[in-house]
Amino acid sequence: MKKTIRDIEVIGKIALVRCDFNVPIENGIITDDSRIVASLPTIKYLIAKGAKLVLMSHLGRPKGKPNHDYTLKPVADRLSELLNLKVQFIESDNVVDDNVIAAVNKLKNGNVALLQNVRFRAEETKNEANFAEELANLGDLFVQDAFGTAHRAHASTAGIANYLPAVSGFLIEKEIKFLSEAVEKPERPFIAIMGGAKVNDKIPVMKNLLQKVDTLIISGGMAFTFFKAMGYNIGTSILDIESIPLALEIIEMAKVQKVELLLPLDIVAASEFSNDANYGYYDFDKIPNDKMGLDIGPKSIKKFCDALSEAKTIIWNGPMGVFELDNFSVGTKEIAKFLAKVDATTIIGGGDSAAAVHKFNLADKMTHISTGGGASLEYLEGKGLPGIEVLDDK
Ligand code: 3PG
Repeated sequence: MKKTIRDIEVIGKIALVRCDFNVPIENGIITDDSRIVASLPTIKYLIAKGAKLVLMSHLGRPKGKPNHDYTLKPVADRLSELLNLKVQFIESDNVVDDNVIAAVNKLKNGNVALLQNVRFRAEETKNEANFAEELANLGDLFVQDAFGTAHRAHASTAGIANYLPAVSGFLIEKEIKFLSEAVEKPERPFIAIMGGAKVNDKIPVMKNLLQKVDTLIISGGMAFTFFKAMGYNIGTSILDIESIPLALEIIEMAKVQKVELLLPLDIVAASEFSNDANYGYYDFDKIPNDKMGLDIGPKSIKKFCDALSEAKTIIWNGPMGVFELDNFSVGTKEIAKFLAKVDATTIIGGGDSAAAVHKFNLADKMTHISTGGGASLEYLEGKGLPGIEVLDDK
């Protein structure tokens, strides 16, 4: 068990809190603030306990150089609104410099400050000791609450823990509780739904989940690689040709583990990847040569919902189709709507499936929506997350 903020005294201490504020921003406007909202319990607790908070995060991938398209200023503004107190944005292209140190040293108990994007420094993603130490020298303790970045061993997520007492915040605690309970002691039947376009990324998680679930639903773009592996024509649908042997391995493993494998029965297909394209419904084995599958059809939705209605634990990772285009969003929306009302524990992986659930305004109907896309996948693969492994043991 790792120590949490409950296990340490924080009054008057400068707490360096790593959050994942990597949120979508369009023209300076945050379009989904759920990662910021998810950080509030830890921040509010530390304020109430009289710590001085210095928040740290990355935003996007500015390639190790200052790039103001990736400034965290909009996050400081949004946080100020959500907390109803001024969050001081301590801006420096160098992230840490003498002015930053002076500003941090002026903080009073209960004050909150946010540093500039840690990825403005090349040393961040290389986990270089000099930057980890510069960050650590700003404060008295390290609080890890960036679940979405906990699979990265970077200076602000892992290296920093070499220099300070290191504990987790409440978001890390909550994510691990839901993900581990679902996987380790699920109420059965336990069903995993895997979707999205990239098969390769999800093979390790499917292999791990095949040892735990009763049913595995494979849908979304990755289903076409499975259909191809099974010898069907998939027209111009997305294909990860190199993953065909892995798809066959998954099919074989499911047989050995006696896990029911469900694939779509019908497909919505169009001649091009566009919301304006004409589309039609086709059985999975009758996709025309010149059409690409962009969503699942009504027979698939029914088949999946029938299976899900029996489930007591469901993990969902990856959309059923191109839900960003309205004409191809029905499959993802119907599955999300069904999960919102089914009598089961529903865990939504981060990334696209979380975005879909938010888009359809169903977020508050799910048991847990992970804030980590890559991180939740790596956790579900059974891997340790470096940003958590570095924390102090109880
Ligand atoms: C995410 O959005 O998955 C995390 O913030 C990690 O971002 P990264 O993939 O750029 O490391």
